[in-house]
Amino acid sequence: MSNTFRRLTSSRASTLPLLGLLLAALIFSVDYEAPVGAAVGMLYVGVILLGLWTPWLAYPLVAAAGASLLVLFDLAAGWGADVPPGVVINHPLMILVFGITAIVVRRFVILERQAEAHLEQLGDFKRALDAAAIVAITDVQGRITYVNDKFTEISGYSREELLGQDHRIINSGYHPPEFIRNLWRTVARGAVWNGEIRNRSKDGHYYWVDTTIVPFMNEAGKPYQYIAIRADITARKLAEDTITHQAALARVGQMAAVLAHEVRNPLAGIRGAMQVLMRRRAEDDPERGVMQEILTRTESLNDLLNDLLLFARPRPPRPSTLELGPVIRDVFATVAQDPAGSGVAFEAAGEPLSVHADPDLTRATLLNLVLNAAQALQGAGRITVTTAARPGGMVEVQVRDTGPGIPAEIREQVFEPFFTTKARGGGLGLPIAQRTAELHGGALTVACPPEGGTVFTLLLPREEQKSRRQGGKDEGGT
Ligand SMILES: Nc1ncnc2c1ncn2[C@@H]1O[C@H](COP(=O)(O)OP(=O)(O)O)[C@@H](O)[C@H]1O
Ligand SMILES: [Mg+2]
Repeated sequence: MSNTFRRLTSSRASTLPLLGLLLAALIFSVDYEAPVGAAVGMLYVGVILLGLWTPWLAYPLVAAAGASLLVLFDLAAGWGADVPPGVVINHPLMILVFGITAIVVRRFVILERQAEAHLEQLGDFKRALDAAAIVAITDVQGRITYVNDKFTEISGYSREELLGQDHRIINSGYHPPEFIRNLWRTVARGAVWNGEIRNRSKDGHYYWVDTTIVPFMNEAGKPYQYIAIRADITARKLAEDTITHQAALARVGQMAAVLAHEVRNPLAGIRGAMQVLMRRRAEDDPERGVMQEILTRTESLNDLLNDLLLFARPRPPRPSTLELGPVIRDVFATVAQDPAGSGVAFEAAGEPLSVHADPDLTRATLLNLVLNAAQALQGAGRITVTTAARPGGMVEVQVRDTGPGIPAEIREQVFEPFFTTKARGGGLGLPIAQRTAELHGGALTVACPPEGGTVFTLLLPREEQKSRRQGGKDEGGT
């Protein structure tokens, strides 16, 4: 109940009975003067009806009793004059009407109060639900007719953008059509559906919600609307993913140990033997080419094994202050030497910055990203590496190419181990790069801007800012 309403009713509580009293006195005086038999007394019904607006529950009964007394008094006062018996009969009838009116008014006031209390309780429930959950209501066609604030917050869409749409607007395309069909079949036959759904917000990030959909049924037993109550479980899902990921990594680790032992050593033997054989051949021996090919292949096999080992058992970073400019130039020079680097223009942009990171790992990570970009360009295009300071003490390194981009449906997979689209790719470059970034407390993400190409964004911690404080005597030293 709102405060204004309470104030209104409490002021009525004292004034209305007074008004009733005045009105009754007025009616009585008129009735007293009126010729015997006139039905002025019926006006007392109005006094009883005032009970509709006063919260004093006993009012209608008190008013009816008062009115009955006054009517009887009037009858008694007029007694003696020859009152026709038909008129005498009128009085008990009037009293009966007063009684019935009083009972009806009282009953109505009680019902109204109960309805108010129920509404208030419903409002409380709704407030509690809105505070606890992400809530949406849709009609039978699945069009959204209501969303609460939490829904707009998590989805990133405004209420105007959501109302009238169906839930496809936040569909992440993750669940197979059968899953969604089953959901609709369940609620359409009136049953509650519960499950975990991955949705996509307006800015493109994914969130997981534990979802309960309750159908509301009409008298005919057909649903007329659905209410969906959701809880954000993204953090739990991420934790689960990490655990599965780590379990997979542990298995890869064991496999890598076996590989290192059983494959790397024989491989080194083959290479050594081949080098011996090659040395025994004349410079112009036609078979040298084949031997050289064998050597190159074993070397790339060895590289892959090294990657696998690095991926399975990353060494902890040994961070130091590292100037990015020279590293980027060095990486450009290396890639320019590579066959993939021919016809590619390299450009470094942004502020000269230093990071607090492991020099070897950082160089390997950047080399990976720039080499990937060069391979995507296929002999024509530009690679731009931009450095910028970011809030939170981070440095952002963006590796941008003008290549074909990564199709949306595989964009999330490129960080998965062994995912490759290249004939001779190992698919470990990006997972290692991402892991290295995370081991440094940073991150590696990918985006394909609408204007084309691919942008990898690497975040690394900025060099520790001691030097500035030492040199900062002018900043406030006394
Ligand atoms: N700059 C890029 N442009 C287009 N596709 C890319 C780019 N970088 C990576 N990719 C895609 O990601 C996949 C995985 O890369 P990576 O993990 O380095 O493995 P690999 O290079 O061995 O294939 C590549 O096969 C390629 O499809
Ligand atoms: Mg690669």
